[in-house]
Amino acid sequence: MNVAETLKSLTTAEKAGLGSGIDMWCTKEIPEKNVPSIRTSDGPNGLRKMETNADGLGRDQSVEAICFPTASCLASSFDRDMIREVGQALGEECQTEGVSVLLGPGVNMKRSPLCGRNFEYYSEDPYLAGEIGTAMTNGVQSQGVGVCIKHFAANNQEKNRFSISVEADMRTLHEIYLRAFEKIVKTAKPWTVMCSYNMINGVYSCENKWLLTDTLRKRWGFDGAVITDWGAMNDRSKACEAGTDLEMPSSHGVRDKYLADAVDSGKLDSKYLDANAERLLKLIDRAISEREEYKKAHGGIPVYSKEEHHRIAEKAAEGSAVLLKNDGGLLPLEKDRKVLFIGEFAEESRYQGGGSSHINTYKVEKILDSADKAGIQYDYVKGFHVYPEEFDDNEEIFNEALSKAGRYDTAVIFAGLSDLEESEGFDRDDIELPEYQNKLISAVCDKLNNVAVVLFTGSPVAFPWKDKVSSILNMYLAGEAMGTALINILYGNVSPSGHLAETFPCRIQDTPAYLNFPGSRDNVAYAEGVYIGYRYYDKRDMDVLFPFGHGLTYTTFEYSDIRVNGMDPLALKKAEINGKSPVTVSLTIKNTGNFDAAEVPQIYVQNAPAYEGRPIKELKGFTKVFLKKGESKTVDIILDDQAFAYFEPKTDDWFVTPGQYTILAGSSSRDIRLSADINIDSDDRIPFKAGDTTTAMDIQKYYTGDPAPLKAFLEKAGFTQGLSGDVDAEQSSMGKAGARMDQAMYEDTPLHSVVSFAKDIDLQDVEDTIRKLNGENNF
Ligand code: BGC
Repeated sequence: MNVAETLKSLTTAEKAGLGSGIDMWCTKEIPEKNVPSIRTSDGPNGLRKMETNADGLGRDQSVEAICFPTASCLASSFDRDMIREVGQALGEECQTEGVSVLLGPGVNMKRSPLCGRNFEYYSEDPYLAGEIGTAMTNGVQSQGVGVCIKHFAANNQEKNRFSISVEADMRTLHEIYLRAFEKIVKTAKPWTVMCSYNMINGVYSCENKWLLTDTLRKRWGFDGAVITDWGAMNDRSKACEAGTDLEMPSSHGVRDKYLADAVDSGKLDSKYLDANAERLLKLIDRAISEREEYKKAHGGIPVYSKEEHHRIAEKAAEGSAVLLKNDGGLLPLEKDRKVLFIGEFAEESRYQGGGSSHINTYKVEKILDSADKAGIQYDYVKGFHVYPEEFDDNEEIFNEALSKAGRYDTAVIFAGLSDLEESEGFDRDDIELPEYQNKLISAVCDKLNNVAVVLFTGSPVAFPWKDKVSSILNMYLAGEAMGTALINILYGNVSPSGHLAETFPCRIQDTPAYLNFPGSRDNVAYAEGVYIGYRYYDKRDMDVLFPFGHGLTYTTFEYSDIRVNGMDPLALKKAEINGKSPVTVSLTIKNTGNFDAAEVPQIYVQNAPAYEGRPIKELKGFTKVFLKKGESKTVDIILDDQAFAYFEPKTDDWFVTPGQYTILAGSSSRDIRLSADINIDSDDRIPFKAGDTTTAMDIQKYYTGDPAPLKAFLEKAGFTQGLSGDVDAEQSSMGKAGARMDQAMYEDTPLHSVVSFAKDIDLQDVEDTIRKLNGENNF
């Protein structure tokens, strides 16, 4: 298609029509202008292709497809290559099914563990979510299919998601809630972005020019199309001007007419509608031509192999499971020692989430079937139902499990949440497992010593029985091949290698957003600012149940020889490193135990004190390395050019404070094995403009000119201590304490207030001093 020519040929009504769907999933075709329709489909952990007129609420069945592990599970793999492979498989499935845009991945932050949709999101950490989202995007798009990264932005709860206004400051938005999107846009060039339902600081995402034009397109260079979440359109004319291109699913022509009228009446400049239509034509053209390329490369559109993709799902589940606890090395189990399996999840496996991501699964592997296939010796008792309200034998099966437990020395209990407890559409009320499961686990532990719990949930839960059980294996929602993956891990064919992409808190009351989740009917204050997840627990020095990055395996690893840009810690003491270019951290890891396994070394930057408060440390790099027993490898982990930066609202940009930072290398955020101090060089400065609220401390911190005018002013006022810091305790009737307060007063009293305390100072002096300070300031 010649996009420029086609655009010229379209009428206003046709352009407006192009900007909304023809049905739930497809764009409109304009046959007389040779504009074809393209199809979108959910996403994100499998293909949920619906028939054209099917509804989007899950009442209709979608085509059969592979259900890969959900996002919280995949992210725990910390494995970019594996996630890329999953993305590639999803892309192939889209090609086979004629889908041009896959609606995912979802890269929203896990602000609270209560968000019902957390299973669809990667992490509480924007760097990790950005890296995983980049790998997924690259995988899908390598197959000539576009992704739609969602939900842009700050869609971090389900309650009132259609209209709630997220109240957050610029630093919090850029540093936490936009960061993963930024990374993916800049490095993986997604074809489309889905704007969220909610408002940000009082403006709907679809109408938010700051979000869609100033930030997404201008600041980050996004050149694709913006699609609304399904039903997230509000005022189409405002949305068009702000940079939203496609309203989905459709408004049955109502908003097409509204938009065309706005242009015809001159209320909306036609250039905005042209820009919209041009971006959509480019998207359609790209989808069609990439499909042609794909066909050429494959001699037609191949039908993907479901068996092959099932095995990719299995590998992904194996690489993502997180071993949280393993006292006494209970796991792996010996194959020929008969154990007792308890819990209906062994039959009714939970492996995916509810809502728009729900897959019509190709082949679910139930745990008991997989155990039979592997020739495992086990006995099974239900113990509890996943949906106990549907049965009246709950007490009976509980007691049966307890009496059988007495006859075994080892039990594995399969516990978790049902889709009535976590799903798209609503949030959880707490982080507890159902009471009947907690009771059963505790009671079984009273009967025997060796109890392993296997968990199936999309997000963290509390473990009141944590100290009573020997092992906890967190499978998350691990996709359709979860059965084989689980048996392989339980019996040691595969060593677990997942690490938590989110903190497991001790109590919901400990969580950073506890006082502000889900907010009121209309708005929610992100009062915790940048301190979400481990940033919060670290800063408050709090205990957690299991920390971010935690994950055990069947072997042990030794870390040694940390270097930064090739220099050891001694050489680093004397060196200066440019804080705005990538930095390479290398270290050697040795498998010192008895199993082959993969380790996930994580690099955190411990921050120097900055002008603004900063988290104690932040994840800035990681890799995954497989080591046979006894083997050691040196790995290079590259920290990107933003590893030392924070978002400075005063400069409205990323900012690197010069000074000393510490590079930490560890196996979790709270298991740091090596560290190296480094000196970061940066010429970033905060532009400083004096005003009547300027204080002596401001001048000391931010002012780069000659402070003489201020000195003269303070001398005249008798306030010189504000700059010199030399209040004498003798001078204060309250001794040292008084002197300390006086010092703070001298430092923090604004220029205009000095007038109140110093009889020789008048308003003219204040004005002159401000003028002189600013005159000498080069900013
Ligand atoms: C969800 C999106 C999804 C869309 C289409 C919405 O309710 O928020 O994530 O892609 O429906 O099913």
